[in-house]
Amino acid sequence: MNLTVSPVLKDLFGDSFLIGGALNNAQIAGQDPTALEILTRQFNAISPENALKWDAIHPEPARFDFALADRYVALGQALGAFVVGHVLVWHQQTPGWVFEGEAGAALNRDTLLARMRSHIQTVVGRYRGKIHGWDVVNEALEDDGTWRQSPWYVTLGEEYVAHAFEFAREADPDAQLYYNDYNLWKPAKRDAAARLVTSLRSRGIRVGAVGEQGHWLLDDPPADVIEAMIVTFEKLGLKTVITELDVDPLPRPEWLDGADVSKHVEFKTALDPYAKGLPDAVQRQLAKRYADVFRVFVKHRRALGRVTFWGVTDADTWLNDWPVHGRTNHALLWDREGQPKPSFDAVVETARRASAAP
Ligand code: G3I
Repeated sequence: MNLTVSPVLKDLFGDSFLIGGALNNAQIAGQDPTALEILTRQFNAISPENALKWDAIHPEPARFDFALADRYVALGQALGAFVVGHVLVWHQQTPGWVFEGEAGAALNRDTLLARMRSHIQTVVGRYRGKIHGWDVVNEALEDDGTWRQSPWYVTLGEEYVAHAFEFAREADPDAQLYYNDYNLWKPAKRDAAARLVTSLRSRGIRVGAVGEQGHWLLDDPPADVIEAMIVTFEKLGLKTVITELDVDPLPRPEWLDGADVSKHVEFKTALDPYAKGLPDAVQRQLAKRYADVFRVFVKHRRALGRVTFWGVTDADTWLNDWPVHGRTNHALLWDREGQPKPSFDAVVETARRASAAP
């Protein structure tokens, strides 16, 4: 299909919510014309898959490297897109020095807090007014709703989340600030996130929305569970943003849902069944799944700020390498050649039906 005549998602959902795509480093560097063409035509929001993470941007205590991040922000400005910053405080992709004490001593609270503050002030300050929304804290909770025992939590306690939001707010008073996590549809985790954000707000700390990453499977979580999550946050006056949407059609051990990047499974051919292409039946299942979740999004559009896909085409989805390295995944709306899939048509159709409905 000629990409310049295909329907345009950002127009179809224009009155409802922003539609975004996450860009990998090669795309930001301009090395992937196909993805950039799709991005330019289809999306009105962008996220950086890796380029703004701590290890990329602040590899050593006194050294920041903004080369790629600057290109990312400039690209967003050139596109007139809503530009997302991902991510300020996370336990992954954060260099070891952040969690080490000075001169071999044990890490203490003041040192870690000072590092957090200086990182956030430098990065958010640099892009003040240019990055419109920040994932401030990522993955602070376990699936059962307890606190993740990350170095942030272990050293600073629950207060680390409040500090991160306050530092970000100081650095850019106008940016939207998000709490971001995966599996927020799980009731225990959803309710813990709701309690966390409600408690922050009761102390005057502004949280713009809750980000559910949206790394979902063909049949899990069920659409009504996704709906219940959005409604739970809405009842508290909170918008939901879907920050990293994809649907993984490949086999996955039952114990492994969500997106914990520290977990891996060894490659076996049986775990890579669609290396030569997605069979029609699974292609249809994937399209139906996308239609089902977008029906929920459209129904609750007033409670949703944005839906961002974690990648552009199947060639660059992170799910080619997680939880099993080197598989052929098919999780997005465009195939490896950049052609729209039946899943794209299903999303378009869902939008059209919604706008035709009385
Ligand atoms: O940069 C090196 C490169 O030099 C090297 O040749 C190559 C070899 O494998 O690795 C490259 O680093 C990879 C990096 O992505 C950049 O491509 C890492 O191995 C790989 O682990 C890393 O994966 C990223 C993952 O976060 C790591 O935490 C994914 O691209 C990225 O999509 C993913 O994004 C996370 C969100 O930030 C938070 N939510 C979950 C989501 C999916 O895991």
